[in-house]
Amino acid sequence: MRILAIETSCDETAISIVDASGGQARPAFKILANITLSQAKLHAEYGGVFPMLAKREHAKNLVPVLLQALKDAKLYAKDRPSLNCEGRSFAKKAIFEEMLSREPELLAGLIADVLPLKAPKIDAIAVTHGPGLEPALWVGVNFARTLAILWDLPLVPVNHMEGHIFGSLVEGNAKKITLAKLKFPTLALLVSGGHTELLVVKKLGEYKLLGATRDDAIGEAFDKVARMLGLPYPGGPAISKIAEDAGALEATPLPRPMIKSADHDFSFAGLKTAVLYTIKKLGHEPTEDDKRRIAKGFQEAVVDVVAAKVAGAARKHKVKTIIAGGGVAANSQIRAALAHFADDQKIALRVPPLHLTTDNALMIAITAYFLATKKKFANPKTLKADGNLHLGKR
Ligand code: KG4
Ligand code: ZN
Repeated sequence: MRILAIETSCDETAISIVDASGGQARPAFKILANITLSQAKLHAEYGGVFPMLAKREHAKNLVPVLLQALKDAKLYAKDRPSLNCEGRSFAKKAIFEEMLSREPELLAGLIADVLPLKAPKIDAIAVTHGPGLEPALWVGVNFARTLAILWDLPLVPVNHMEGHIFGSLVEGNAKKITLAKLKFPTLALLVSGGHTELLVVKKLGEYKLLGATRDDAIGEAFDKVARMLGLPYPGGPAISKIAEDAGALEATPLPRPMIKSADHDFSFAGLKTAVLYTIKKLGHEPTEDDKRRIAKGFQEAVVDVVAAKVAGAARKHKVKTIIAGGGVAANSQIRAALAHFADDQKIALRVPPLHLTTDNALMIAITAYFLATKKKFANPKTLKADGNLHLGKR
């Protein structure tokens, strides 16, 4: 089954095309195309992702990224011109004009460059329909809906968080991948710019939400603290880097919110405010060493909280595997803390390769294959984006 997957939930415009086989028992994927266009540099000015800018960039980039993906997969071919203006495509133009009325640039690109294409040999379109920045999600969802209608293909809606779970199972190389087998129950730590969640995976497709952040997401806290320290967006890697530069410098002591709470929830707003007060109390612009000490202290606090929460949940639910996904799972100190705990408890640990921790469409494509084997399709005429989509019930 050949799947084309689209991801636009945040600031990456990503499209993947895979040949999937093996069913639920032995899924395997040949990667025909995998493109991720990051807008991070554009958002850097704002110190975070600016939703309307993200939406505009997705609308501008989706058609060029699609064309490149089709070319990479050797699926790009123009139709006979006579068919463009009379046949099926033309009849559908009116539907697209309505569906993409809020994305005029995307509509123009679609009409100019996608309508004239010969329908590529693809079996399903997949798209992230939530959670994420709603304006950004809508662009991808609307684009996926039009492609599904244009090429008469089934449409598979994918929850971005489930995508991160599947992303953490990937084994293989840039051309061919398989998915690692999990031992259940598995504990999933999903940490990104928008999410901080702990879930129990009873089996793939069956999730229970144990806890989440009550205020800022963990990546958001990294990004905001980075901004306070005059570091660029995205803040995670920037903080990590100067925390490392701190070497033997003493870390600024900072609180570890909710580290001892009996539940599995998180809170990072207080930690962020504590950093702000620390900077104010200095009475001068923070020096480079001040910044390093604060970054080191902040990262240590975050890592301690994450490690404690993972340990608490893993013990309580007697999990056999721990997986981590989302951009913050790229953090080497978090990875080290998880590895230490898992090793100590003889629990298997799976963290994705670095290029799969951050947002990408490959994880959406492989999740879509799993969902397609269960016939979880959506109606392209009515599929909606949902910024607050949840994975698993409490
Ligand atoms: O999953 P992701 O690419 O996008 C969202 O869905 O949000 O995650 C992006 C987040 C940003 O907040 C970024 O600062 C954070 O992941 N991040 C990191 C690291 N690399 C990226 N946080 C801590 N340490 C890192 N090395
Ligand atoms: Zn993500």
